[in-house]
Amino acid sequence: MDPIAKTAYYCCGVRMLDAHAQSPVCGDHYAELFMDAEAREIFRRFEKFRGPNLANAARHRIIDDILRERLARHPDMHVLLLGAGFDTRAFRLAGGQWFEIDTPALIARKESILPAHTAPNPLARIAMDFSSDRLEHKLAALAAPAAPAVVVMEGVSMYLSPDQLRDTLNLLRRLFPGHTLVCDLMTDAFAQRFGRGLRRRIRELGGNFAPLLDDPASFVAAAHYREAARHSIAGRAVAHGSLPLPLWLFNSLLKSLRDGYQLHVFEANSI
Ligand SMILES: C[S@@+](CC[C@H](N)C(=O)[O-])C[C@H]1O[C@@H](n2cnc3c(N)ncnc32)[C@H](O)[C@@H]1O
Repeated sequence: MDPIAKTAYYCCGVRMLDAHAQSPVCGDHYAELFMDAEAREIFRRFEKFRGPNLANAARHRIIDDILRERLARHPDMHVLLLGAGFDTRAFRLAGGQWFEIDTPALIARKESILPAHTAPNPLARIAMDFSSDRLEHKLAALAAPAAPAVVVMEGVSMYLSPDQLRDTLNLLRRLFPGHTLVCDLMTDAFAQRFGRGLRRRIRELGGNFAPLLDDPASFVAAAHYREAARHSIAGRAVAHGSLPLPLWLFNSLLKSLRDGYQLHVFEANSI
């Protein structure tokens, strides 16, 4: 698998450990299925990053909650997981028509371990080489669904240059008019202050973050999205109790931790 695809094992490893915790945040019991010796070797590099790992689980839970709430209202909703990694929501959440997009090697491995046809909800997997395939061609068959559509980009935006992100958003708006975008966005200042160790490990795998922005949410808004909600990712971990920080500290000296990495919900403006 290419270096960025390998980072999916990091997120999956976090969820594996979380599922075994006394008080799980996500409770993804499928995660460990994917964690063979090679995957565990990759995860070992990240295992000691306690704060980032708690944030990773919190991020996943925030998205679970958003999707659960929307699926309860729209059980036929289309959910497109762009850069799905080893996401198992199509198996864990009730309802939805699911589409998972990721690299051919990752999709092949996922399919061999947890085949799409065994999911309780309709699930299609789409293999895509992000460096050479055109997303437009891959997504054309799914375009303009009759039901509401949510696009999830989790743990992906930091690997896209601003130009790549803008092009992806333009395409999504064209193919899925009126969709909801759920994505995490990290400011450059946050990555500099809290993400150095993690980035070093990602570089060891051969990957890297793209240049990050000071205000990525405004960048997405300028690409014709309206921000409907934002959630502090560290704040979710604090609320759960897994990140034990006094609230006064979190809301004062650690505001940059609270606000620098957030999970956003955007509504796409019509073209
Ligand atoms: C850190 S992993 C996150 C995986 C999964 N969303 C999760 O949270 O567990 C990043 C994922 O983005 C995928 N990816 C790489 N380039 C991408 C691109 N241009 N667009 C969408 N996804 C991409 C990788 O293959 C990888 O699976």
